[in-house]
Amino acid sequence: MKAMRFHEVGGPDVLRLDDVEVPTPGPGQVRIKVAASAFNAADNGMRAGFLPIPVRLPHVPGYDVSGTIDAIGPGVDGLEIGQAVVGFLAMETDGGAAEYVVAPADAVTAAPATVDLVDAAALPSVALTAWQALFDDGGIRSGQRVLIVGAGGAVGGHAVRLARRAGAHVIATASPRSLETVRAAGAHEIVDHTRFALLDVVDEPVDVLVNLAPLEPEDFAALVDLVRDDGVVVSTTAFMATPGDDRRGVDARTVFVRPDTPRLTEIVALVDAGELSVAVDRRIDLVDLPALHAEAMTGRIAGKVVVVP
Ligand SMILES: NC(=O)c1ccc[n+]([C@@H]2O[C@H](COP(=O)([O-])OP(=O)(O)OC[C@H]3O[C@@H](n4cnc5c(N)ncnc54)[C@H](OP(=O)(O)O)[C@@H]3O)[C@@H](O)[C@H]2O)c1
Repeated sequence: MKAMRFHEVGGPDVLRLDDVEVPTPGPGQVRIKVAASAFNAADNGMRAGFLPIPVRLPHVPGYDVSGTIDAIGPGVDGLEIGQAVVGFLAMETDGGAAEYVVAPADAVTAAPATVDLVDAAALPSVALTAWQALFDDGGIRSGQRVLIVGAGGAVGGHAVRLARRAGAHVIATASPRSLETVRAAGAHEIVDHTRFALLDVVDEPVDVLVNLAPLEPEDFAALVDLVRDDGVVVSTTAFMATPGDDRRGVDARTVFVRPDTPRLTEIVALVDAGELSVAVDRRIDLVDLPALHAEAMTGRIAGKVVVVP
């Protein structure tokens, strides 16, 4: 089979389309015929060697995956050959930028029935990040006020929808580019961060500040003033420290997304119920993955890109 792999860390040119043997599922594993994998910034960081994740080399990127189960190892219950699944695979193991990938059976769940299987690869890790930021780290409850900075991106769309669904009052930032998607996600108030300073326009404290944007550290620290005493600041931008305020009891939490298949199963149900949506900006061929990594090195990749073998 074809698999995009890197044998050493480095620039995008370390990615090579290799011919490798189709993997065989061991005990507790399934083999997935890949429909697509999703590109994430962390794929770029692992290939470049920026991220402290102990990948085994050679490594196949693409930890978000969708596809069809085509072989089942011993001791697997509850999954069937031919079943459409999605999964968030452990980042250090081989991912889905290949024709087939072997995964622990407990890392996958039934794919959404209402979304094309190729596009479904864009769901797992960003939706889990939003969930974990809001609920596991932010502890958001009904009636609370939450400010989501960077709501116009892939994580933000899920975060706005989930926070609103939980009964929170959602204030979200969006530039004109992402205004309509943030509005459609259901934010109660939207601040165009290219025209207004949040400190000038948010006039009541929030319970939880969720940051998803690459803010300057001093701008991020200033936003802590918007959080009430004993509130929480949560950030997914793990490359910089999350500011809090010990004096006022404002907790600082940095999200490192974790696989959580039971939660992913709930998220899939929310997609099928129309409460979450899967947005894909581009589908690319597996052979074009090095070019996508090169593009990511020069700036932000807007929206989700799925990679089709
Ligand atoms: N720690 C983890 O486990 C984890 C997991 C997943 C993702 N992440 C990280 O979390 C972040 C969000 O992910 P994503 O996929 O949603 O990224 P994304 O699609 O790049 O979205 C980021 C959003 O922030 C907005 N933005 C940029 N500068 C801003 C500013 N100064 N003020 C307010 N908003 C601003 C962007 O522009 P517009 O307003 O123009 O739309 C964009 O919509 C990324 O840094 C990603 O790498 C971390």
